Amino acid sequence: MKTLHWIAATVAALVTVLPASARKTVIPVETDHTQLILAVQDNGVLQTLHFGAKIADPSAFEAFITGRGTDNGEGPMAYPTTGGRYIGEPALHVRYADGYHNTQLFYKSHTVHANGNIVTTVVTLQDKVTLMEVKLVFDAYQKEDVLCTHTEILNGGKQPVELLNYASGSLYLDADQYFLTHFHGGWADEMQMDGEVLTHDTKVIESRRGTQATQCNNPSFLVSLDTDRLQENVGEVVAGALAWSGNFRLSFEMDEANRLNILAGISPFASTYELAAGQTFVTPDFLYTFSGRGAGQASRNLHAWARNYGIYGGGQINPTLLNSWEGAYFTFTTETLLRMIDDAAAMGLEMFVLDDGWFGKDYPRNGDDAGLGDWEVNTAKIPEGIDYVASYAHGKGLKFGIWIEPEMVNPQSNLAHAHPEWVVQSPGREMLQSRNQWVLDLSNPAVQDFVYGIFDNTMQLAPNIDYIKWDCNRVISDFGSTYLGEEQDRFYVEYVQGIYNVMRRLRAKYPDTIVQCCSSGGGRVDYGALKYFNEIWTSDNTDAFTRAYIQYATNLIYPACIMASHVSAVPNHQTGNVTPLKFRFDIACSGRLGMELQPRNLTEGERALADRCIRSYKEYRDLVFMGDVYRLASPYEGDYYALMYVSQDRRRAVVFTYCTKYQNRAVGAHVFRMDGLDPARRYKVTELNVNRSCWWGSGQVHAGDFLMNGGFNPSLLKTFDSAVFYLEAD
Ligand code: DGJ
Repeated sequence: MKTLHWIAATVAALVTVLPASARKTVIPVETDHTQLILAVQDNGVLQTLHFGAKIADPSAFEAFITGRGTDNGEGPMAYPTTGGRYIGEPALHVRYADGYHNTQLFYKSHTVHANGNIVTTVVTLQDKVTLMEVKLVFDAYQKEDVLCTHTEILNGGKQPVELLNYASGSLYLDADQYFLTHFHGGWADEMQMDGEVLTHDTKVIESRRGTQATQCNNPSFLVSLDTDRLQENVGEVVAGALAWSGNFRLSFEMDEANRLNILAGISPFASTYELAAGQTFVTPDFLYTFSGRGAGQASRNLHAWARNYGIYGGGQINPTLLNSWEGAYFTFTTETLLRMIDDAAAMGLEMFVLDDGWFGKDYPRNGDDAGLGDWEVNTAKIPEGIDYVASYAHGKGLKFGIWIEPEMVNPQSNLAHAHPEWVVQSPGREMLQSRNQWVLDLSNPAVQDFVYGIFDNTMQLAPNIDYIKWDCNRVISDFGSTYLGEEQDRFYVEYVQGIYNVMRRLRAKYPDTIVQCCSSGGGRVDYGALKYFNEIWTSDNTDAFTRAYIQYATNLIYPACIMASHVSAVPNHQTGNVTPLKFRFDIACSGRLGMELQPRNLTEGERALADRCIRSYKEYRDLVFMGDVYRLASPYEGDYYALMYVSQDRRRAVVFTYCTKYQNRAVGAHVFRMDGLDPARRYKVTELNVNRSCWWGSGQVHAGDFLMNGGFNPSLLKTFDSAVFYLEAD
């Protein structure tokens, strides 16, 4: 990032130069390698002077404390508000009881508190007229180089106020050019990479989908500085994410001085928040990191933070599994399930998950049009009960998991008849259905208790249920709450807070249960949900070719340990691609491996391959879960996809390579260059998941610097060829 050229412009345009204060206040918020510099201007406005590589002596920034702002702004305000000279996108926009909108925050005090790896800086700002008080809280994760910020907004006045915008944080960057990478998509097509060079004015990425907030856009981004594309290993990159599982808004505003202001927060859409006198609103976390070595290092920083702090159970390895959905859908009996359990155990998988279809008595769940809300076992399908199936699985040495969709109700259910007032709705209007279902109003504490009870009761169906798949299969559209009465503006915020309340209570009672966050696939993938969930169902799309794109992009922000990735039949209900079983395994093995098919439909040869892949995965999966990722080739940029995970001590690694398009043999095999190894070490390279190797160097020992700089050229020539290699230092 170039040194702040705005300084010159600011100084030149000073309206009034005030004498420098006796004591300049520079507040460095630092990690091992990065630094955010906040500084109090002479007029008391808190500015962001720098975010990027760490500068040894932050007091040098005192020289930048020059005056009180310019005719057309207060410079890069650390938390811009509507009011004063500021006319850009506000982090905070307040409407006061008298109808006025002017908020001007000035520095009041700050504290710094170190607790091991986390250094917390709290800066308090205050509007002396309205008495609004804002605390900017920064947790600086030293080793991971991640800053996590949130804001506490206190109405210190005597009248209620309305918060029209209330972002979690604001971040100023300074460069000549910015390339924004973000993620869009839809059902079965989540996390598609998108990007553009930012132009002046404001780019907004927003979700108004309520529940499935990330089905289209994800609350995360990467901004590359002084370049027109995202580069993996070079250049300065800032990557960030908002930890919120509902409507969100990210804005990127480039001003006339070419500064970029990034705001991240809850979307203000239909969510004006009334704050009573003396009340505080706490925003969700906005986390971000800086890399001077491209997107790769930015991802590794975020992943390390996520594993250590951001994901429930982030340090643990979750089991391989067979899920009943694509193998049985709604049509099964106890017999079907026991057979699948037998097969899962025989293949060496570690858990069986009973998906949708096991419940509903008066309204049996035989399709997606009935039963949601009535969480009692359908004894027509499973007369012996869940306990019997779970015990059978446990007896075979498998863990047992079960599916619920607790936020939803089918009109055809006893629940819908008993509690129509619990459904999200507006008076006098038809309650619109999607996937034949309605959403329950989680802003209502009674509904929160009910949803808590669904999970809790399901856990009682058998001793030792190990895993819950929590699904959520529709967005909120025509919102409204019978509970909130005239305070409908609180709905979207309190819906999400409602889920978090439920999850907090459940985690207190079930700290060890593995809980998957599923939402028609990856409809709820964010660091807010991941505080409570162990993993995500990355996408309903299990087609391995499409998964290459989804997983590559997911992995830019979220680590592989959360990415459930299942091998399914081909062609399946999502795409017509007929990918070889090996390609499907090789893709699934780069995340949390599972299977989602009827194992009995595999041929003998396929079963043997499956056994081999599962066995070897269990040997190296600690690398997938805990290793550092290095992406070697992007499917978005060429005909190959390749990545590797390297152990922290750089002694072991696993490398995944895939060909996504037919290659002319005359051209020769593509050369990949490994990364993250110790150049001075020698590694034995073993190809996995095959009988015979597709690289001449497999089975041999190679120098780290050869593998990284000379590279390796497995013969991946046909579309959907793939190869997996295991490396161990000798
Ligand atoms: C959507 C999920 O993403 C699928 O995996 C499956 O659980 C179905 N719901 C069941 O209805």
